[in-house]
Amino acid sequence: MKAIVKALKSTIGKKLVMAVTGLLLFGFLVTHVAGNLLLFVGEEAFNDYAHMLESNPLLPLAEVGLLALFGVHIACAISLTLQNKKARPTPYEEKQWAGARSLGSSTMIISGMLVTLFLVVHLYDFRISKYWVLDDLKVAAASTDTGAEGSQPALVAESSPPAVVSEADGAEKSDIYGLVQHRFAHPLSVLLYLVCLAGLGLHLSHGVQSVVRTLGFGHPKYIPLVQKASMGLTALVVVLFALMPLWFFLVKGA
Ligand code: HEM
Repeated sequence: MKAIVKALKSTIGKKLVMAVTGLLLFGFLVTHVAGNLLLFVGEEAFNDYAHMLESNPLLPLAEVGLLALFGVHIACAISLTLQNKKARPTPYEEKQWAGARSLGSSTMIISGMLVTLFLVVHLYDFRISKYWVLDDLKVAAASTDTGAEGSQPALVAESSPPAVVSEADGAEKSDIYGLVQHRFAHPLSVLLYLVCLAGLGLHLSHGVQSVVRTLGFGHPKYIPLVQKASMGLTALVVVLFALMPLWFFLVKGA
């Protein structure tokens, strides 16, 4: 146990932990973007998928695990940065742009902060505020349904579907699709997402290469190939994520 704690305190130990947590977080992103592709299929397909996730009893456990991964990854990043600063108080700027380091590698802390900011906004948008936003949308939609004379339906009601979808068997599920559509109706929201996704792309462009190097996948001969393949996958993930707000805003005219 002592040896593990000692290893984790060392620079190489922290780098290893960052690589493993980063890889697991990337795995989460791949499954997240794959599931979200159902947004392009339609309301029912996506809400069924969201309902399946929400009703899984293991979800809270997965959420705690995910939070722990983000926490450990960020804590190691802060610790390594402070350690580097201590070792080299004045950064050697020339080398940064001399080809030894890429834009991605020299902006890891800034892009990491942008991703963290994005996560806070994103979790508020889709995980936390859904409890009251869905209720508001429900009330607004109900007021349009009644069509009471003289009643002025709220703007949100005209562009938002009901917040709860009723099944044939009487069961109800949240209209997460409606929530996504509601969020991406606002140009500022779309812009914020696109800027943060650019930050995520920058962060992953170096992060994924670093993981491949640190964990030393396979024979050195194949490392360039593994790096090219992982960069392709990274670009695909980020582009697919970016298409979501754009599609809702431009095509669905949310
Ligand atoms: C624009 C693209 C994205 C869309 C449309 C989207 C959509 C969603 C939705 C609807 C949820 C809530 C699901 C539910 O509660 O039923 C969610 C949760 C989440 N998203 Fe995203 N997401 C996007 C990009 C991202 C990115 C890039 C990250 C990470 C950097 C991310 C991280 C998360 C996390 C950590 C959760 C919480 C998972 C949980 O607690 O179950 N998302 N997302």
